[in-house]
Amino acid sequence: MASPQRPPITPAKRTEHIKYAVRDIILVAEQARRAGRELLYLNIGDPNKFDFETPPHLVEAIYRALRENRTGYAPSEGIPEALEAIRADAEARGIREIQDVFVGNGGSECIELALTSLCNEGEKVMTPSPGYPLYTAVLAKLGCPENPYYLDEASGWQPDLDDIRAKLDARTRAIVLINPNNPTGSVCERKTLEGILELAARHDLVVFADEIYDRLLLGDGQTTSIAALSREVPVLTFNGLSKAYLGPGLRMGWCIMSGPAERLAPLREAIHKFLRARLCANTPIQHAIVPALQGDQSHIDAMRRKLTARRDLTVRALNAIPGLSCVSPSAAFYAFPRIATGEPDETFIPRLIAETGVVVVPGNGFGQRPGTAHFRVVFLPPEPILERAYRELAAFTARRPE
Ligand SMILES: Cc1ncc(COP(=O)(O)O)c(C=O)c1O
Repeated sequence: MASPQRPPITPAKRTEHIKYAVRDIILVAEQARRAGRELLYLNIGDPNKFDFETPPHLVEAIYRALRENRTGYAPSEGIPEALEAIRADAEARGIREIQDVFVGNGGSECIELALTSLCNEGEKVMTPSPGYPLYTAVLAKLGCPENPYYLDEASGWQPDLDDIRAKLDARTRAIVLINPNNPTGSVCERKTLEGILELAARHDLVVFADEIYDRLLLGDGQTTSIAALSREVPVLTFNGLSKAYLGPGLRMGWCIMSGPAERLAPLREAIHKFLRARLCANTPIQHAIVPALQGDQSHIDAMRRKLTARRDLTVRALNAIPGLSCVSPSAAFYAFPRIATGEPDETFIPRLIAETGVVVVPGNGFGQRPGTAHFRVVFLPPEPILERAYRELAAFTARRPE
């Protein structure tokens, strides 16, 4: 029952600046749906919402763990066989000087624990702009000021090394590299990775290497783990089951800590305090890690083939719309087209959703250079849905705002 004489409960100040555009835009979409619009969802990076399924050998491993009563607490850092499989996979990718491996409830938990263990209030972490908004949300919670560095659209969204250099200062503790990137789908060139390592070495930074999309290259070849290029720079590499292993709701991710043992020891200890305090990650799901990394990988090639066709369709359609332009993504399932009509994304996207039902996320939710406007498209849906969405988008862009 309401008690009018008691004051409302004030939340902590640290919540004031926390935004997560990917889900916040749902409120706008809901309004459009209530007004009778059919929605076309191109906003959430969840493959399982479309024609992608968790591979059966992972499902079977989890089911077996449940049937065999492996539902008790696990060791805080993770079950040994999963940690070994992650370590072996990292070594196969060329990562050396591995000092630690731990699992968490999603890459998200690992990232949050690592940032929390590293940063004091007021210290800085450089985050990519555009980039995945979890980092800025966690840093806002920790009282760390925003410190974005830009990716350069003109060079295929490569991190702008001059911008990083100019913004580094004595309070900077770490640099986040999302490679392949969300929301641009760009992949770092080797010389960019080397440039970042050089700056990290010179300024004693820890590199947070988010490689959750590393198996989803849309084309030939392989991405390079930044940790594989240096034994001296401390690197925390994050990955998990959410994307290439098609289980975002399984909430299972991991971190590989590599670099000089003596330098990393205190950070490792601090992270383990938090790992112990939260007991463990979801036990039955950890049993899917060995089959994921060591079992049949054929679903990944099938996924890359589907995504390559959807990427090509997306880039062709977007670049054919006057007023939009799109750098072709090299990996993952995101594109980050530019709005060149002069209208900011803050108004362009809510109008688009209200008038067409096409749901995409405004660029400001990921960060972008001041004076530019973008939005993120998720090209996971099958071709007929994408084609319909891009037809709507073209007709909408051709109309002048009322
Ligand atoms: C770059 C990036 N890092 C981390 C995550 C979160 O991953 P998880 O589902 O493992 O928590 C995402 C999810 O979209 C992402 O895009």
